[in-house]
Amino acid sequence: MKDNLLTLAIETSCDETAAAVTRGRYDILSNVVASQHDLHGKYGGIVPELACRRHVELIQPVVEEALEKAGTRIKDIELVAVTRGPGLVGALLVGLSYAKALAWGRGLPLVGVNHLEGHIAAIFATEPKTPLPVLALLVSGGHTELFLVKRIGDVTHLGGTRDDAAGEAFDKVAKMLDLGYPGGPKVEKMAAQGTRKFRVPIAMTASDTLDFSFSGPKTAVKYLINGIKEKNEEVPVKDICHSFQESVVDALINKTRLAIEKTSPASIAIAGGVACNTKLRRRAEALGKETGLPVITPDMELCSDNAAMVGVAGVNLYLDSPNDSKWMDYLEMDADPGWLPG
Ligand code: KG4
Ligand code: ZN
Repeated sequence: MKDNLLTLAIETSCDETAAAVTRGRYDILSNVVASQHDLHGKYGGIVPELACRRHVELIQPVVEEALEKAGTRIKDIELVAVTRGPGLVGALLVGLSYAKALAWGRGLPLVGVNHLEGHIAAIFATEPKTPLPVLALLVSGGHTELFLVKRIGDVTHLGGTRDDAAGEAFDKVAKMLDLGYPGGPKVEKMAAQGTRKFRVPIAMTASDTLDFSFSGPKTAVKYLINGIKEKNEEVPVKDICHSFQESVVDALINKTRLAIEKTSPASIAIAGGVACNTKLRRRAEALGKETGLPVITPDMELCSDNAAMVGVAGVNLYLDSPNDSKWMDYLEMDADPGWLPG
């Protein structure tokens, strides 16, 4: 099997229309992301129907741009990888239908990739020689999960959020403070100018479970803001953001430390959109120093939703069993909006 296989990857699980071309197992030749933040910003969150329609408009130009930036043409592509779930079902279907038609029309193998395994693959795109098993903290708008990863395609789920995801809590707190969408980067910016003036409690931080819960801190912030407004005082946005962010990062790092104690990984990594947060990145690096473990923090473009991570996941899954007939079973492949790996 060729080592330098050219893969076209497509990702439309949420509000980014993305396409990428990768070469071999880990090389990224292009990684184009058309974000829909302008479209959803005024609603303070993603409107699924609008996201689907925008994906339909953008998918073709985004794929063309990815091919062009990689210096490739469609006839050079040897494998198609596409996100099949989890995500918004209508949004997933746009990318999946496009990928199926393309692969079928050209007789190419098609790999359906789990979006979370895609986020995990970003770790290997950053460091192909990641010491294994790697403990991955995956924090995004829809997920907060801990996985023990032996390799791409072999992951064990250790724990996850029981209610809101960390990114979702960032987005909701930003909405309460009228900071705009997506909230994470806005809260981070405000937090940098504030202090930890308030106590924002987070459930389950002291318990032995590897699960998370982030609906509590969101509600605590809501009551805090309401209390301040009732007293007719000015809302200290920066201090609230700082206090909230510290609590969330504490919870994420403390559970990661507990997971290290329980599973003895060879390295640790962070992934997903919330892994763009500088405070979390620094604290993860500090945890690496504390535990003596190497830490992989993928570049921010690889943490937030993108298609290169889907390509890297897809090609690695494919190369494990390249002769399997399932890669040509286009009609069998369906969107799976609730799919959790491991
Ligand atoms: O992985 P991602 O791009 O999409 C999902 O799969 O959900 O993650 C998006 C989430 C959003 O909730 C966004 O607010 C959050 O990641 N996020 C951040 C930061 N940048 C993005 N959260 C905290 N700090 C950031 N700098
Ligand atoms: Zn994601």
